[in-house]
Amino acid sequence: MINIGLEDSNRREVTRALNNLLSDEYLLSTKTKNYHWNVTGPHFHDLHTLFGDQYAKLDVFIDEVGERVRALGGNAFGTMTEFLRCTRLQERPEVHPSELAMVEDLYDDHEILLRSLRGSLAGNASLRGDIGTTELLTRAMQEHEKMVSMLQSVLGKHDQLKEWLKAQDAIQREIGIEVLAPAGSAT
Ligand SMILES: [Fe+2]
Repeated sequence: MINIGLEDSNRREVTRALNNLLSDEYLLSTKTKNYHWNVTGPHFHDLHTLFGDQYAKLDVFIDEVGERVRALGGNAFGTMTEFLRCTRLQERPEVHPSELAMVEDLYDDHEILLRSLRGSLAGNASLRGDIGTTELLTRAMQEHEKMVSMLQSVLGKHDQLKEWLKAQDAIQREIGIEVLAPAGSAT
């Protein structure tokens, strides 16, 4: 029993929510690390660096969440079994997505986490008065927003690249038709 000015039932509810968040963050960090190692393609260097930065940030935050659970008197999850049981995100074992699919996959997961964090901050009555956890979750939300915007920039770049490739294809086709169809052969 600890007495830090928070109701026991609220502390229990908040530690449960934090352990769920820890599970999601752990899975996302592992997935980001996997993509950092396995990304291939023309944007290898940019994406390898971006994913590396992002998993390092997630790992720092994971540590803070685990320690916050302890500060509230709970036991922090620390096994893959617990993380996998409680995460709301999906792993894709043995799948090796393209570089673009990796960015999209991470982007979707950050969005799920952002919706969940916003929901907790707006609607979890147990958080009332728990300034420490509220501050931690607010910071997490801001970090995820930054990560999403970085991934979005990469997707933007890909969109431009895809447009450019499409335009190149069209030019190639035009040239191809001129080259392959000798003057006067058209019927
Ligand atoms: Fe590395």
